[in-house]
Amino acid sequence: MSAILEIESLRKVYADGFEALKDVNLEIKTGEIVALLGPNGAGKTTLISTVCGITQASAGHVRVGGYDILRDFRQARSMIGLVPQEINLEPFEKVISTVQFSRGLFGKPRDDAKTEQILRQLSLWDKRDSQVRELSGGMKRRVLIAKALSHEPKLLFLDEPTAGVDVELRKDMWEIVAGLKAAGVTIVLTTHYIEEAEAIADRVGVIAKGEMLLIEEKARLMDRMGQKQLEVQLSAPITEIPAALETYALSLSEDGCALTYSYDTRRERTGITKLLSDVSAAGLVLRDVVTRQSSLEDIFVGLVHAGEEDAT
Ligand SMILES: Nc1ncnc2c1ncn2[C@@H]1O[C@H](COP(=O)(O)OP(=O)(O)OP(=O)(O)O)[C@@H](O)[C@H]1O
Ligand SMILES: [Mg+2]
Repeated sequence: MSAILEIESLRKVYADGFEALKDVNLEIKTGEIVALLGPNGAGKTTLISTVCGITQASAGHVRVGGYDILRDFRQARSMIGLVPQEINLEPFEKVISTVQFSRGLFGKPRDDAKTEQILRQLSLWDKRDSQVRELSGGMKRRVLIAKALSHEPKLLFLDEPTAGVDVELRKDMWEIVAGLKAAGVTIVLTTHYIEEAEAIADRVGVIAKGEMLLIEEKARLMDRMGQKQLEVQLSAPITEIPAALETYALSLSEDGCALTYSYDTRRERTGITKLLSDVSAAGLVLRDVVTRQSSLEDIFVGLVHAGEEDAT
């Protein structure tokens, strides 16, 4: 499949001298859903804003559908839809007119059938004559998406579509995204939530401190992140791991009071039950068990840290 978005050596330095993007490279294929994960201040919004022409790059090139975002601004921009991070809607406007107006901004003639299709796709058709201020937060977000789709873009950016949204609405949003993909729209979304990336993305990029630390197929990333640790605390210290427990590749804490077992959360059998019974069979007495899973934040920190070590 061809690339719909090509970002080459993109750099953004804000007026105050802050370097928000450092040499970002990214290629997105037509039809993909790509999730950009990153902590606050990572540069996610800056990246999207730069591609959408809201902020200007300090260096590098961006092409959308082969069109350079500076030289062929109009063509590039007409292919892009943007759902911004902040809800910015006219409270007294009717849902249908705000969507029609957005379409008009792109110089597209009014098309009632198209507008209806978009509103139906987002379950907003029944609310078309409501004023925006009457809508719930989740519906307002849908209106933002409807606006972003009004000019029939090929590439849709969703900047934190589910931040501060409850679990049910988050799932609705995931369904909407899947529906848009099925309708042929390529989607780039930003998120803080690993479950979100896991639920809907084909590829996941991790961005921190203005750098794209990695971008890879979701399945591979999940392999790396699916590790969990079980710490078995013992009532009395031991000096070495009993031979009967060798197959578990356990590690013993320095004080001899805890055994740590790493396992894959997505495997059908984690081996925990057998481990615990084998621990007892080996004559060890359990005091407590604790499980740990690295949070996304930990993984970011780990990645950033590894990057710093590589550089030295
Ligand atoms: N106009 C600006 N001038 C100076 N610095 C800015 C400007 N806009 C953003 N920044 C800085 O650039 C960095 C990246 O900001 P950005 O909004 O792109 O992050 P983000 O990944 O979208 O974060 P969040 O998850 O909080 O939305 C931050 O340190 C931010 O303070
Ligand atoms: Mg942001």
